[in-house]
Amino acid sequence: MLTTESTAPSAASTGTEAVLRVSQLISALSYALDLTEGQPMGHSVRASIMGMRIAQHIGMPMQEQGDLYYSLLLKDAGCSSNSSRLFHILSADEIRAKGDVKTTDWTRVGWESLQYAITHVATGAPFLERIRTLLRVAATQQRDSCELVKIRCERGASVARGMGFSETVAAGIFSLDEHWNGGGYPEGLRGRELPLFSRIMNLAQTLEVFLVNRGAEAAVGVARHRSGRWFDPDLVKAVVSLHQKGVLFADLETEKILQQVVALEPEQRQIVATEEVLESICLAFAEVIDAKSPFTYRHSNGVADAATAIGQQLDLSAPDITFLRRAALLHDIGKLCVSNAILEKPDKLNNYEFEVVKKHPYYTMEVLKRIPGFGKLSEIAASHHEKLDGSGYFRGYSAEQLSLPARILVVADIFDALAAKRPYRDAVPIEKVFAIMQGEATKKIDAECLEALTAAHRNRESSDCGLMELKQAVCNPTIPNSKEAFA
Ligand SMILES: [Fe+2]
Ligand SMILES: [Fe+2]
Repeated sequence: MLTTESTAPSAASTGTEAVLRVSQLISALSYALDLTEGQPMGHSVRASIMGMRIAQHIGMPMQEQGDLYYSLLLKDAGCSSNSSRLFHILSADEIRAKGDVKTTDWTRVGWESLQYAITHVATGAPFLERIRTLLRVAATQQRDSCELVKIRCERGASVARGMGFSETVAAGIFSLDEHWNGGGYPEGLRGRELPLFSRIMNLAQTLEVFLVNRGAEAAVGVARHRSGRWFDPDLVKAVVSLHQKGVLFADLETEKILQQVVALEPEQRQIVATEEVLESICLAFAEVIDAKSPFTYRHSNGVADAATAIGQQLDLSAPDITFLRRAALLHDIGKLCVSNAILEKPDKLNNYEFEVVKKHPYYTMEVLKRIPGFGKLSEIAASHHEKLDGSGYFRGYSAEQLSLPARILVVADIFDALAAKRPYRDAVPIEKVFAIMQGEATKKIDAECLEALTAAHRNRESSDCGLMELKQAVCNPTIPNSKEAFA
């Protein structure tokens, strides 16, 4: 379990000279969770600040506040796991649907729910197909909602446990979408059966969404309106009191919002990101990234394994390989901003869709650069679609602008995209994978890095005790299609 510790991670593996705190790491990474929830970046952080203000107002003991703090920051950790399922239910952009559902009272049948369905189900489909899909969605709405929430809550709780957080943190995340009157999901808990953390978190996230979309009075208004139905009436009273004192929404629009949320972590519960903790958080977020689509199952780990193999073959130092591996685990974090309607499109992407895809390394940089000391790592991770001849994206870097770690990541990313097993196609023989990459070498990708990967594969093939990770990637090869453009 995560506890307070004094051992700092090494500067080389994090890129930082100072001690990194888990709160700094997770609050920055929460910006990626906002992307896939269809919320503006900073949503989780602002909701966390409001949630902590509510907890302080009701006199929550400091020990519990330490757990609530991480429940709040990780409330959407399971968000990517139901994206694919939601996309298939709606046959439309699920990020837009997720974003707008938070301002909709879907528990009441009426114009609001109908309008939501009309604007988010099968948009763009021919009229009759749209009507058919709408009727199907209406008929299975309750069952589907419960299933979607369950997937998300179970995964979110599991991610928190995987990072080493307590069962209290996980339980708060698991019951995030329960309602005070028993009308929520996945278990229909009622009143004080709901963990207090979940009651605070649901209220805080709703306040944040209404604050950003409709202003402070609307936010408090919706809390009052849903008091006793969605929300604990005592907590709503606390919200009203905090608002009257001018505390609830104070200083939420400042540039220094990340410093604010980090400062809210109870002092006696502050956790240092040791090497071990840093590794588990990177692995957990790699899982969040890969859960977004079945097409990219285990991709982040696969890229990390391939990058590690290249680094070892090139005799890089252990800290440099650790750095590379972490950049690889997080390289596609910006892909959480891409809708599954695009990620899972079986046909060629149109210009608009490809423009959306081309933004994902930019968002990788936007998220990772917020972590203190991660400037270099964010730069490398965001360069994974660049090409030596300047034809890559998102910045069209030339060979001179691509450092060795960036070149390694480019090769590792393409290799895993070609070699990893995908559900929509059969395997490509590994020789063909290398032949395809060889055709790109020198002009687009670094020939020395490709040679190192080829040699690592050869060595491991001839060794019975070779690294299993690379073997796994190599033994599950598959074929490219349009998805490979942005794997
Ligand atoms: Fe990518
Ligand atoms: Fe990738």
